Amino acid sequence: MLLLKIALIISTIGSASSSSLADRGRVLDIDGIPYYAGGIPISRLNTKCAHKLVNAVAQVDGIDLLPFTVMENSAGSFGVDELYATVAQYEKQDDVFTPAFLKAVYLQSSERDYLPVSSVDANSLENALGDFNINLLTTSGNITGQSLLLTTQTIDGLAKGPYFVSPSTGNIYKAHRIYSDDNLAFVQGIVSDEQGGYLSLPALTENVMAKSIAVPSRLYSSVTAEKPLAGLRFGVKDIFHVKGVATSGGNRAYFYHSGAQNATGPAVQRLIDLGAVLVGKMGTVQFANGDRPTADWVDLHAPFNPRGDGYQNPSGSSTGPGVGIGAYEWLDLAVGSDTGGSMRGPAGSQGIFGNRPSTGAISLDHVIPLSPVSDSAGVFARSGAVGGSYTSLVQRHTTCI
Ligand SMILES: *[C@@H]1O[C@H](CO)[C@@H](O)[C@H](O)[C@H]1NC(C)=O
Ligand SMILES: *[C@@H]1O[C@H](CO)[C@@H](O)[C@H](O)[C@H]1NC(C)=O
Repeated sequence: MLLLKIALIISTIGSASSSSLADRGRVLDIDGIPYYAGGIPISRLNTKCAHKLVNAVAQVDGIDLLPFTVMENSAGSFGVDELYATVAQYEKQDDVFTPAFLKAVYLQSSERDYLPVSSVDANSLENALGDFNINLLTTSGNITGQSLLLTTQTIDGLAKGPYFVSPSTGNIYKAHRIYSDDNLAFVQGIVSDEQGGYLSLPALTENVMAKSIAVPSRLYSSVTAEKPLAGLRFGVKDIFHVKGVATSGGNRAYFYHSGAQNATGPAVQRLIDLGAVLVGKMGTVQFANGDRPTADWVDLHAPFNPRGDGYQNPSGSSTGPGVGIGAYEWLDLAVGSDTGGSMRGPAGSQGIFGNRPSTGAISLDHVIPLSPVSDSAGVFARSGAVGGSYTSLVQRHTTCI
């Protein structure tokens, strides 16, 4: 009996040490807007400074995450004009950033590997900080004058934009705004695992059927020659495999049977490499076939066409990508496929741009096939300029030789 008890205790300890615990992130509400703070820290504030942050920023009881903003400045000095111009630009460019993220601000030079911001004139900024409710401005540069400002901080590896920081651990998390997918365009929202793969979005807000989609700040990336699609958000028809998440092909049994994928298809990866930001897997007729909405959509509900009374036929089979681009301003591109009209149909039904590149122009590796002799990947966009660049950018280089 005693031996049995010891064996039990040992086996309990054994299983405890092999159990895993993961932070899947949190949903926060700022002025009525839901935000998702990722569970994966992307940088860290030293905790001594984190305590100063707590003192400076009005803390809400029981909430261990505080919004803050990283600002970039290209001029040598930072004063009132730069502060107003920067806030105006962030509000115009980004739907995630709001002035609520300004309670604490970290100022860095936009010349990343170059000098820190050389000087901040605290005295001249004092009133302007009050205008924006900025309780704390911290920078790695020199601060002249006396005020609420605090110097000494260097935070590595952060792009400009809004974030959440945990005062108890110093961990810094990306800020995502949560939108609800009222038209059921998505099968699931996904977020970067910060290691080249993706995780299913674990956050949900309350809606009748709609899922939640989390979009990261557009300020995190800037357009460069290598990243011409920086900041553009996109979703993909759920026949394209994406590393880390399961593919449904519009079929529940396939989703649960196939499990998480190990690789992202080149037609999707190329967009990511060019700077576009993947936010979710989108609805498809089962296996990209020819089902009629809504009669034949049994495993998943057909997405709702945003036009007319909201109950028009959305066409298929790239139904989710077509509906998403028709319905959501916060989504810029959606990748679908066309075998016998699956891009052309939804583009017409939703009143958006859709293209069907020649079969073979775009790699369909890591994509569930329908008929390889006719399958082609395509893209939907509300702007012809944005959509048109997809084919030229994603096309296999071999076809250009
Ligand atoms: C900050 O001030 C020190 C001392 O005056 C000076 O040596 C240093 O170069 C200054 N740093 C910057 C970034 O301007
Ligand atoms: C991913 O790789 C693992 C390990 O090789 C394998 O067991 C699993 O079946 C793969 N998943 C898919 C969807 O191919």
